[in-house]
Amino acid sequence: MELKNKFILDACCSVKAMWMNKNHPNAVYIDIRKEPSGFLGYNRKEAINPDYVMDFTDIKFPDKSFKLVVFEPPHLSKLGKTSYFRRKFGALNPNTWKQDLSHGFHECWRVLEDYGVLVFKWSNSEIKFKEVLELAPKQPLFANTSNNKATSTTKWFCFMKIPKAHEWGNLTSKKEGMELSHKVPSLHSAINPKKD
Ligand SMILES: C[S@@+](CC[C@H](N)C(=O)[O-])C[C@H]1O[C@@H](n2cnc3c(N)ncnc32)[C@H](O)[C@@H]1O
Repeated sequence: MELKNKFILDACCSVKAMWMNKNHPNAVYIDIRKEPSGFLGYNRKEAINPDYVMDFTDIKFPDKSFKLVVFEPPHLSKLGKTSYFRRKFGALNPNTWKQDLSHGFHECWRVLEDYGVLVFKWSNSEIKFKEVLELAPKQPLFANTSNNKATSTTKWFCFMKIPKAHEWGNLTSKKEGMELSHKVPSLHSAINPKKD
C-alpha cells in the first residue's frame, strides 16, 4: 500500500460528505464497504468509494503514518434495517459498539505521528458525548461550543498526539506542572461549556 505524499487518513469515509475536495491528493480514504453510485436511490449520484476497503479496528498501515486522522464512525445503533441513514452512514452494533469504537480510537491513534491531530466527529442524539469520549485515548484539546440545541447536537473534537515527555504532569518542573494543571478544564466543562 503506497503512502507517498499521503499524510491524511479518513478512517471511515462513507460518501465523503464532509470533504471539500472528495479526492484530496494527500488523503487516504478507507471504509468497511464499497457502494456503487445510485445506492441511495436512482436519482442520487453518491457512491462509497474508499481507496481501501478496511476496518478501522484493524488499520493496515504502520504506526505513525499520518499527520491528520479524521474519524467519524456511525453514531447510531437504533436504525431500521433498510433505513436511509443506515445505508448512507452505517450503524453501530448495539452489542459491541463500545469495544468497536475503543479499538477504532486505538488504531487511529496508533497510525498518527507524534504531534499529529485526530479529529473526531460525533452526534449525541443516541449516545452522549461523555460516554463516547470515555473510549478516546486522551481528553480532547477542544471542540466546537455551540449551545444551540435546536440546530446542533454534533461536535467536532480535536485531539493532538502529544508525546509523553511533553504531556501534562510530565513537565520539566514539578511546580510548572502544578500551576498549569489546575487550568485544564474537566471533561465535563469541556463538552458542556457554560453559556456566556
Ligand atoms: C457516519 S459515516 C461517515 C460519514 C463521512 N464522514 C462523510 O463525510 O460522509 C460512517 C461510515 O463508517 C463506516 N464504518 C462502519 N464501521 C466501520 C469499520 N469497522 N471500519 C471502517 N468503516 C466503518 C460505515 O460504512 C460508514 O460509511
